[in-house]
Amino acid sequence: MDVDELFNIKGNVAIITGASSGLGQLFAETLASKGANIAICARRLDRLEAFAKQLEAKYGISVFYMALDVNDETKVKEFVAKAYEKFQRIDILVNNAGTGAESPSTEVPKEDWQRVINTNLVSVFVFAREVAKYMIKQGHGKIINIASIYGQVADIFPVSSYHAAKGGVINLTRALAVEWAQSGVNVNAIAPGYFPSEMTEDFFKDEKTLTYLKSKAPLNRIGNLDDLKGTLMLLSSHASDFITGQTIFVDGGWTIW
Ligand SMILES: NC(=O)c1ccc[n+]([C@@H]2O[C@H](COP(=O)([O-])OP(=O)(O)OC[C@H]3O[C@@H](n4cnc5c(N)ncnc54)[C@H](OP(=O)(O)O)[C@@H]3O)[C@@H](O)[C@H]2O)c1
Repeated sequence: MDVDELFNIKGNVAIITGASSGLGQLFAETLASKGANIAICARRLDRLEAFAKQLEAKYGISVFYMALDVNDETKVKEFVAKAYEKFQRIDILVNNAGTGAESPSTEVPKEDWQRVINTNLVSVFVFAREVAKYMIKQGHGKIINIASIYGQVADIFPVSSYHAAKGGVINLTRALAVEWAQSGVNVNAIAPGYFPSEMTEDFFKDEKTLTYLKSKAPLNRIGNLDDLKGTLMLLSSHASDFITGQTIFVDGGWTIW
């Protein structure tokens, strides 16, 4: 196959969770810019509505959107079913919605800890399960879970629930990849280092913290949004047909030393 053809996703349908801001919007726009139709969700309806209009006008593709909390299983099922009803196919799922949490482990109430596990890990499983039902019937699909460097390594910030959830995402990716390998569904993960978004903006405002974060990566910088596009396209397209269960670290080398 020609290289352009390997990366061609024109006419595919991609679901992106957590696309009301940050990396979710980057992932949705990247796939839309290559001709994929898009289904997006998050809790902030006004953001989704404006973003959907923008993508449709800019790229001439079709966008389905629905406001939901990813922890509401009934709504997740409804969203996936409606997306399939509208487009009659689901080729790509980017399991991106997530939340941060800074709280010393001796003080954090179990409910707060559990909330992060539910949003960052359990909902990733529920979305994958619901979308895989359609992908298995089609005989093909690409699931991309958004992990983090913090699924692999620890740091000085007290975010144990986030570490546990993202570590879970990395091994869940392997487990689902094996379960669905014979059905044509590839399951992989992207583990970003630090990138600008609502989640990180306060970190980056503090010069000392920013210097520390840069110093943790051999490339000595934080990521810019272009840094994630290539890996996303690889894992969304035929170019990754022989890659499954892997986590690709897009982190400037943070996790290698
Ligand atoms: N930025 C980084 O440096 C970085 C690094 C590693 C990994 N990540 C991961 O990348 C993903 C995106 O994060 P981001 O940096 O882009 O942060 P962000 O700008 O805060 O975006 C998070 C997105 O998730 C949605 N979301 C959060 N909780 C939700 C819920 N309960 N139900 C539905 N949607 C929910 C938010 O939408 P609503 O608020 O509208 O619901 C928002 O669209 C996360 O999984 C994060 O852990 C980010």
